[in-house]
Amino acid sequence: MKKIAVFTSGGDSPGMNACVRAVVRTAIFKGLEVYGIYRGYEGMIEGDIKRMYSYSVSNIIQRGGTVLKSARSMEFKTPEGRKKAYDNLVAHGIEGIVAIGGDGTFTGAKIFQEEFGIPTVGCPGTIDNDIYGTDYTIGFDTAVNTALAAIDKIRDTAAAHDRIFFIEVMGRDAGFIAVDCGIGGGAEFVMVPETKTDLSMVVKSLKNLRKSKSSSIVVVAEGDEEGNAEAIMQKVKEKINDKEKDFKVTTLGHIQRGGSPTAKDRVLGSLCGMAAVEGLLEGRMNCMAGVMNQEIVYTPFGDCIGKEKPLNKEHLKLMEILSI
Ligand code: F6P
Repeated sequence: MKKIAVFTSGGDSPGMNACVRAVVRTAIFKGLEVYGIYRGYEGMIEGDIKRMYSYSVSNIIQRGGTVLKSARSMEFKTPEGRKKAYDNLVAHGIEGIVAIGGDGTFTGAKIFQEEFGIPTVGCPGTIDNDIYGTDYTIGFDTAVNTALAAIDKIRDTAAAHDRIFFIEVMGRDAGFIAVDCGIGGGAEFVMVPETKTDLSMVVKSLKNLRKSKSSSIVVVAEGDEEGNAEAIMQKVKEKINDKEKDFKVTTLGHIQRGGSPTAKDRVLGSLCGMAAVEGLLEGRMNCMAGVMNQEIVYTPFGDCIGKEKPLNKEHLKLMEILSI
């Protein structure tokens, strides 16, 4: 293998740049030529591919977003789109690919590799932490810290006005961000898609809590089965039925995706990037390089996207104990 390419795809996450940097520099260290594909699968289809050098990735480790840009490509879902992408890679002599992204990225990579046979190794880049085969995904730690900084501020004003706040965090259909924000932010409740919440229990406890606490925070994962934070707040408000109680909703949204990556995300991104290139050189393919128990682990794409990654039971227990 002499030429490889790297791209970022799907929702960007802080630490993707550290990962790109590690891919480029590891490739050069190992004597490979390395190319950057811009805007993920879209750029692969359009041939937006450029040679990268060590200096191409200078001064990016501390930056959020992704210098390679990202996209969610509809055309890549079609056989015609994938054929165009393959032709562009062949034209550049690309023999191996590093795909940085989440489950959508790996689903595309798996299909593409099975159709055209270009070895691909993935790196888990998503704030959601919903990828099997790695303890944490690149960007999760930064997203939680960003959300926590916001929750701390909301707590100040919630306490000043004795209000109940429902704060919605990202995570698509996973509750990892919500649970860690709940623990770290001292929330009274966390509502996540993985466990069914009995709203009458929330109501009962919020009523009881109000006797001893002046304000309350409920963290809602965006994928919760009861709806978004606004819908849940309305249901709870109706059931509490107390005109003196003041309810507010804050949806943190895309602020959670940006910002300078934490040390953890820079190190994780760098490790996964290095491991992906080493994996390609060892003949690995159709798998993701992740970190579990402080060791690099390669997991088949099929498992990364097909196996469920459960929430940490100790975290859930902690949340319950600390919210009394
Ligand atoms: O997968 C990352 C993520 O930020 C999810 O938490 C969220 O549901 C989704 O992407 C939002 O996607 P978009 O930026 O395309 O609106």
